Amino acid sequence: MIDGKKVLFSGMQATGTLTIGNYLGALKNWVSLSEEYECFYSVVDLHSITVRQDPAELRRRARALLTLYIAAGLDPKKNCIYYQSHVSGHAELAWILNCFTYMGELNRMTQFKDKSAKHADNINAGLFTYPVLMAADILLYQADVVPVGIDQMQHLEITRDIAQRFNAIYGDVFTIPEPYIGKVGAKIMSLQDPAKKMSKSDENPNASIYLMDDPDTIMRKFKRAVTDSEACVRYTDEQPGIKNLIDIYSACTGKKPEEVEREFDGKGYGDFKTAVGEAAVSVLKPVQERFAELEKDKAYIDSVIKENAEKAGYFAQKTLRKVQKKVGFPEKIR
Ligand code: TRP
Repeated sequence: MIDGKKVLFSGMQATGTLTIGNYLGALKNWVSLSEEYECFYSVVDLHSITVRQDPAELRRRARALLTLYIAAGLDPKKNCIYYQSHVSGHAELAWILNCFTYMGELNRMTQFKDKSAKHADNINAGLFTYPVLMAADILLYQADVVPVGIDQMQHLEITRDIAQRFNAIYGDVFTIPEPYIGKVGAKIMSLQDPAKKMSKSDENPNASIYLMDDPDTIMRKFKRAVTDSEACVRYTDEQPGIKNLIDIYSACTGKKPEEVEREFDGKGYGDFKTAVGEAAVSVLKPVQERFAELEKDKAYIDSVIKENAEKAGYFAQKTLRKVQKKVGFPEKIR
């Protein structure tokens, strides 16, 4: 609890270019949570170097992501928006938690298996202990809730296991985090393969609508979206491509899937795709405009970075000191 509010933690990696799926599924909903929770939203750059990065590019993307958090509507006075690498407590707590995590547990992580298959030439120890760093992120702020996608659920489970293990030995040190289940955001699928999640790291650029895509590109990608030969706008698992387009349209307009079915009753896929494209353009446009303005205001972004790193650091230190004492590290002499 901070000032009587429950704590919420989440983070995103600045790798790849954010998609409309990240926006509709996560960012947009984060905005509505800041009244109820004390929110920490990190740009998790420590996680990013588990795969090789170009340094200049990583720095540029991290700043763009942080700026985008604000452009999407997160007020940096109410939400702590910061770089993970600016708060050394993440790495320090991760080390300690590494000593409370078993190889066998980490071996079971499906993301590790997937990523080691994908980056077979660089299966480094950081990739293996990635979930421990994520546990440190969450536990450092004594987070009560963590909004995560289904793909990160296993990491949240291990976070809870580590916290419970630690608490069983040392007493109530960590808050046990819960997944945030509430008004969950839409799960947006690939436009080229509706069985796959829309991903910022998809090799096919037509599969994803990027947050910074211009209107023409957005319209073109929707026109090319994979559908079916039913020729009928219906919300059903048998028509995964159309279902996904309905989800996108619903998330952009606030209309329920049934209303969308009615609206396009008797209309062709061409009309429907145009409407989805236009809805997406009108949702992304204000975010893009705000982003462009913010990007120009270097001093403002710098002040957000500085102030929020200090704020995060303050809470991180509180937990870290407690943990260090519990495991037997000596007090610093001041
Ligand atoms: N691993 C998460 C992802 O790739 C990002 C992340 C890092 C995160 N630390 C976190 C998410 C803590 C929630 C809480 O999506």
